[in-house]
Amino acid sequence: MLEHLKVSDFGTPRRESEQEVTLEIDGNSVTVPKGTSLMRAAVDAGIQVPKLCATDSLEPFGSCRLCLVEIDGRKGYPASCTTPAEPGMKVRTQTPKLQELRKGVMELYISDHPLDCLTCSANGNCELQDMAGVTGLRNVRYGFDGANHLKSEKDESNPYFSYDASKCIVCNRCVRACEETQGTFALTISGRGFESRVSPGMDEPFMESECVSCGACVEACPTATLQEKSVIWLGQPEHSKITTCAYCGVGCGFKAEMKGNEVVRMVPWKDGAANEGHSCVKGRFAWGYATHQDRITTPMIRKKITDPWQAVSWEEAIGYAASEFKRIQAKYGRDSIGGIVSSRCTNEEGYLVQKLVRAAFGNNNVDTCARVCHSPTGYGLKQTLGESAGTQTFKSVEKADVILVMGANPTDGHPVFASRMKKRLREGAKLIVIDPRKIDIVKSPHIQAEYHLQLRPGTNVAVVTALAHTIVTEGLLAEQYIAERCDDKSFNEWREFVSRAENSPEATEATTGVPAADMRAAARLYATGGNAAIYYGLGVTEHSQGSTTVMGIANLAMATGNVGREGVGVNPLRGQNNVQGSCDIGSFPHELPGYRHVSDTTVRNEFEAAWGVSLQSEPGLRIPNMFDAAIDGSFMGLYCEGEDIVQSDPDTQHVAHALEAMECIVVQDLFLNETAKYAHVFLPGSSFLEKDGTFTNAERRISRVRKVMPPKAKYADWEVTMLLSNALGYPMNYKHPEEIMAEIAALTPTFSGVSYELIEKQGSVQWPCNAAAPTGTPTMHIDKFVRGKGKFIITQYVASDEKVTRKFPLILTTGRILSQYNVGAQTRRTDNNQWHSEDRLEIHPVDAEDRGITDGDWVGIQSRAGDTVLRAIVSERMQPGVVYTTFHFPESGANVITTDNSDWATNCPEYKVTAVQVMPVSQPSEWQREFSRFDKVQAELLEQRHAAEVVTGK
Ligand code: SF4
Ligand code: SF4
Ligand code: SF4
Ligand code: FES
Repeated sequence: MLEHLKVSDFGTPRRESEQEVTLEIDGNSVTVPKGTSLMRAAVDAGIQVPKLCATDSLEPFGSCRLCLVEIDGRKGYPASCTTPAEPGMKVRTQTPKLQELRKGVMELYISDHPLDCLTCSANGNCELQDMAGVTGLRNVRYGFDGANHLKSEKDESNPYFSYDASKCIVCNRCVRACEETQGTFALTISGRGFESRVSPGMDEPFMESECVSCGACVEACPTATLQEKSVIWLGQPEHSKITTCAYCGVGCGFKAEMKGNEVVRMVPWKDGAANEGHSCVKGRFAWGYATHQDRITTPMIRKKITDPWQAVSWEEAIGYAASEFKRIQAKYGRDSIGGIVSSRCTNEEGYLVQKLVRAAFGNNNVDTCARVCHSPTGYGLKQTLGESAGTQTFKSVEKADVILVMGANPTDGHPVFASRMKKRLREGAKLIVIDPRKIDIVKSPHIQAEYHLQLRPGTNVAVVTALAHTIVTEGLLAEQYIAERCDDKSFNEWREFVSRAENSPEATEATTGVPAADMRAAARLYATGGNAAIYYGLGVTEHSQGSTTVMGIANLAMATGNVGREGVGVNPLRGQNNVQGSCDIGSFPHELPGYRHVSDTTVRNEFEAAWGVSLQSEPGLRIPNMFDAAIDGSFMGLYCEGEDIVQSDPDTQHVAHALEAMECIVVQDLFLNETAKYAHVFLPGSSFLEKDGTFTNAERRISRVRKVMPPKAKYADWEVTMLLSNALGYPMNYKHPEEIMAEIAALTPTFSGVSYELIEKQGSVQWPCNAAAPTGTPTMHIDKFVRGKGKFIITQYVASDEKVTRKFPLILTTGRILSQYNVGAQTRRTDNNQWHSEDRLEIHPVDAEDRGITDGDWVGIQSRAGDTVLRAIVSERMQPGVVYTTFHFPESGANVITTDNSDWATNCPEYKVTAVQVMPVSQPSEWQREFSRFDKVQAELLEQRHAAEVVTGK
């Protein structure tokens, strides 16, 4: 294996024990925690024992017999991977007899293995090849005439990896990886003895089995049997860099393995604290979008959105954008322009955009897409606990006894965390799921939720209050914890409120749809089952009472003493890679970095001194206010970096009207997305592979994003923001994102200890990181809450304005699926489409039958906001009266249906509750026809730019 790409493998997992064991291996004394295998102890002593079936991410299996050792006083040759170290043992790993035995084992393997090492895709990176060398095997006495597997069929069904059974040594690593690491149980070894073979599902091709393409088996395979197709095509990588996945809020660390400037594969990083060597199909395989032909790499401008695009130089594009923004401000006033920055961007990019808006635009009209996902988390957790962030590390779930998942679908949305959680559940932790749908985690291999509270969408607040009612009235409160750590007055008021009969599970059953007995039993389990941890997602926040539910969750955790140590806590599962970070670094219109209100004069003075400008003291416009102001004629210019508001924001037609009303929209993106179709300036963006920076995941963990190839369009996104700022007359001169992080740290107390140097040293840093916590803070609120005393908040249930009626009798709720991501701009441009190539509407069989709908039918969905057409999936995952869809494909227009209702505190849209009617139809909706027309026109306007380029030779 190429030296620089080699990963150390200790053979068996690390054991944790307070007791230590000292033994002697090949004459070296070594001390290890009790329970450590001889194989791992040998590595600690600097000795590698040959192995094939063992790897340190999996429990030892003891099948290959290559790791045999001799132990003084013991008969035979035990396997070092399955034999625990004992005090005083004297072990020998290298003797002539062991050499002979190992050579014999290898001979048998090689006698049923193709001898095509030179042309094999794993050549140079194959453990079987390595072991043949290590054991000194020079020839094979048995011929290939007898029974063998050399002509076994390949399974090429998975788009990303192939399975070549002729190379399989039946070491079982893939099967164990699928079970232990991923928790999907898709693989078995079928047959016995010579006949035994790895088999997905019931001897199906991978793509037809339960496999979710996480890649754990590929990573575990010691041969070329399971191999990335990219390696087969491109050859073995030559160099690598550690970076962070640009998809979800788990923030998995990856090693980008490269050949020149080309990515050969993304390998999950074993030392990545968020993922510990695991991955999902998106981060592991779906990176091809970065080099997709749809990338636009030349800046473009046009006067009107009905004009063809004109390819121009960077200077021209930036100059035009700046002059337009100046013109609009001169005509409509300082507050007539603003910026939106995506939570997919790095911290440094987000910081620069908010600085650009506040310092160069001179207003606070900056917002981020966290507005439409987790803004209620920021608000709710700040009010109750004192900090707008989750309380734990992901690892903490290993110490949870009860896991409550509410409004989150981790196996689809946060797959690597889901795998960790499932592992803990298989070890015996109990699971409560609160979700309108029967999501996978409710019942999956070796996992069964104790309680699935299948609530009616929109009744979250009534549910958390009924849980609290049970805890309070049944005497399950953590009295001492509350007395020591929480605010008396607010607690007493809350206790009185939740105790009222109207908040009991029985009284609210008709509203929530949750049987009172289940509600009570779930509350008892949460309060008394040991360490109880809550994980929640957008099914909590994207409601008209999203902030109230977040506060209700925090109330539950405080009332039961479940905040402030490992294994417990309140954990928002963040949708996108940098939702946490974009909020932290001041992307909201009311807050400067570190969640400090713009009206705070002391804070503002600090930024004014550092930035050399005076800042507005009034909050600026939130995204929905920007749209309203555009339609009113007072908001006329927008700088939108990395966000596709037309597809992702609710009530698409309203958003489109707002954009049509503006005079200058500058979109900075990889692709001509739906928003760019309304733009006047297009500035090419850079993918996560083309820039340096940091992302902050749902654990508050700041990890490095590292440039592995030059930006395709010359500049990284942070450089483009600088160019725009300079053109507007506000100088920015950073040489590297490290300098931007240094500025964030200097101006933000919770970040004051954060630096690239520290991240380099530790691998990542969890904020707060400052003088009080110089290496960061894995668990928050340990001795006391950040706000001092924890504050209970009354959670009065108020039914959504969005009511079912005779005209709209069903509730639509939306979400995502594993293989696609958000608006799909990235994943739709990969082979992930093979799993999910269109958004579909899930509907319960009863509702389907009532309407004469069968699986696969085209159905029209109509709400008071608009209508669209999708194909139906008839599914018992739904409850009667509720339908569900994803929003990954622009042409399906899920957000044409969603309304402008939003959270009372933060304006987070109520995506999860829309009253709809569903009927069979035979043709696209009017909106879809208009979408197709507009899409075609815009494609032609882009095409004309291509033509112009060719003609002018640009
Ligand atoms: S890719 Fe993942 S889910 Fe599929 S078989 Fe391998 S380990 Fe199992
Ligand atoms: S496919 Fe690979 S990991 Fe699985 S049994 Fe065969 S050689 Fe081992
Ligand atoms: S779990 Fe999230 S961060 Fe990890 S690989 Fe998948 S998409 Fe990327
Ligand atoms: S490595 Fe120990 S038996 Fe295979």
